[in-house]
Amino acid sequence: MSTPSIDVGLDLVAERKETVADGVVLLTLRAPDGRPLPQWQPGAHIDLVLGAGLVRQYSLCGDPADRSRYQVAVLREPESRGGSRHVHDALAEGEPVRVHGPRNHFPLVKAKKYLFIAGGIGITPILPMIAAVNATRADWTLLYGGRTRASMAFGETLQRAYGKRVSLRPQDEYGLLDLPALLGKPQRKAVVYTCGPEPLLAAVEAGCEKWPSGTLHLERFAPKQDLAAEPLTTFEVELARSGRTLTVSEGMSVLEAVENAGVPVMTSCEEGICGTCETKVLSGEIDHRDSVLDEQERAAGDTMMICVSRAKGNRLVLDL
Ligand code: FES
Repeated sequence: MSTPSIDVGLDLVAERKETVADGVVLLTLRAPDGRPLPQWQPGAHIDLVLGAGLVRQYSLCGDPADRSRYQVAVLREPESRGGSRHVHDALAEGEPVRVHGPRNHFPLVKAKKYLFIAGGIGITPILPMIAAVNATRADWTLLYGGRTRASMAFGETLQRAYGKRVSLRPQDEYGLLDLPALLGKPQRKAVVYTCGPEPLLAAVEAGCEKWPSGTLHLERFAPKQDLAAEPLTTFEVELARSGRTLTVSEGMSVLEAVENAGVPVMTSCEEGICGTCETKVLSGEIDHRDSVLDEQERAAGDTMMICVSRAKGNRLVLDL
């Protein structure tokens, strides 16, 4: 289950910005007065507020035990809608950065064995996971792919630190990751953690189809492609705390209806990928359209991302 939202809204400073791979900068953020930062666990991300209305999520990739700083690695996205371009081109060392979070929708579960699969910048949430797992007696391996060796942030550091547990597989040397070899045979007591571009995540999902349910843990930073398959319908939403009932028409989200009614809700991505708008559902069947909740969380039917998810029936009752 995802952890509840903690949002303290921090004004931090970009203390350091360093290039760690082709097209990737590592950003170190600290409180200007040196205060310890809120705690986090491997898999957590923070929101960076990058200029007018631009909010982007980045996985924390440093050491959770070091409360003096947050570190995130940012890839320059060729299709950037402004976030990565701002970090790469405009944000200078010493400048203030507004941060929300941390939040964790990709928590590390206890297991005897971990198969980590990372693609490109998807290595970032995996880094603190590996450090945490390596400090236990659990077995683990990392399969890490990227376009070229030079584009794969932290690849050589990982290989130096952990040797044979780490398989670096740049595409220009090895081709696509050999997922059938890794996932072809379901392994008892193993869990799979993956983060990376959508084609990799889709391939890992397909590769894990025969694995026991609950084995696969993945994090998306772009909305899943097949989410809007069902036609949109009109339904009612009851806000249990105020007893008000709102109509959510086909052309609007639950979030819009709630905001139009003047009820404040925390939001960030508004695409169903960050988990900020997660809202408790007291009754009604949910049409989940987010990329955050896993199969079991969806089946529990007690929480939803109101920026994208809707009702399957005529009515939902929300804890708002
Ligand atoms: Fe990001 Fe709804 S605002 S999931």
